[in-house]
Amino acid sequence: MHGPAALQLTSEGRLKHLLTTEGLSKALITELLNTAESFLSSQGQPVKKAPLLRGKTVVNLFFENSTRTRTTFDIAAHRLSADVVTLDIRTSSASKGETLFDTLKNLEAMQADLFVVRHSAGGAPFFIANRVTPNIAVINAGDGTHAHPTQALLDLMTIRKHKGDPANLSVAIVGDVKHSRVARSLIHGLRGMKCPDIRAIGPGTLLPGDLDHLGVRAFHRIDHGLAGVDVIVLLRLQKERMTSALLPSEREFFNLYGMTEDRLKYSRPGAIVMHPGPINRGVEISNEVADGPQAVILDQVTNGIAVRMAVMAMTISTQQDLVS
Ligand code: NCD
Repeated sequence: MHGPAALQLTSEGRLKHLLTTEGLSKALITELLNTAESFLSSQGQPVKKAPLLRGKTVVNLFFENSTRTRTTFDIAAHRLSADVVTLDIRTSSASKGETLFDTLKNLEAMQADLFVVRHSAGGAPFFIANRVTPNIAVINAGDGTHAHPTQALLDLMTIRKHKGDPANLSVAIVGDVKHSRVARSLIHGLRGMKCPDIRAIGPGTLLPGDLDHLGVRAFHRIDHGLAGVDVIVLLRLQKERMTSALLPSEREFFNLYGMTEDRLKYSRPGAIVMHPGPINRGVEISNEVADGPQAVILDQVTNGIAVRMAVMAMTISTQQDLVS
């Protein structure tokens, strides 16, 4: 392996950073998911406290807004007994003109062991991982429209829990795939897990041009795209990332692609409905589906804590073995 994907692995293939799901093997993803499951109690809730990161400092660097991701990283680090510093970048030196590199060097000097980075620029976590002191782990919590690997892992964990091995499943991703780092990372993760049938459903303006290359089939009609699928992943329309009007209106989108109980019937009985959040009711999803028995959207949030605990535990343990 070469390029950015190689930056996150040691020469033995262990995870030292998590920057992308692209190129991750089925064995490594399975190890991550198994570790995440080991952090769930018999009631399916993440364990309240484990001492794995006692004495370690986790720094959350959120250059872009977030609710779910930031909070669940925070909870995950606390559950592993780490000290957690969350930097509100709007009030930090970045807004006084300090470069990312200088901010980073100052944080390193405060003895950080792990950086969680969310940035509006694609590639920022790679930039950081390339430049940090060797024993510091970097986790990408979402960079531009590029990648969101912990979201993909929590999606895979949720899929595996409800529907079994993705190698036997059909998965459809609906809506604004083009601007979605969630979709991109999930597609790479599903490919890593050998999922044989990955579909993207949406108008041509919201589907990326490289779907063929990613091994994904494009559908413009939702009835065709949903036929026989086991998993439906809905996405928010990322209006903040659209450079021009790609849609007539939100109502039009709901009329053509919004997930309603009637449309759900095109999929396989018992199919699950997922969404990374934040959901927009009446745009990509109806109230009945969002609150219905097939939605696993809140389970995704819970699994997100366990997955983030697993990623932190595994990357820090690799980094520790590298220095010792
Ligand atoms: C997503 C994100 O920020 O990429 N949300 C999330 O992480 N929970 C998707 C979105 O903003 O629509």
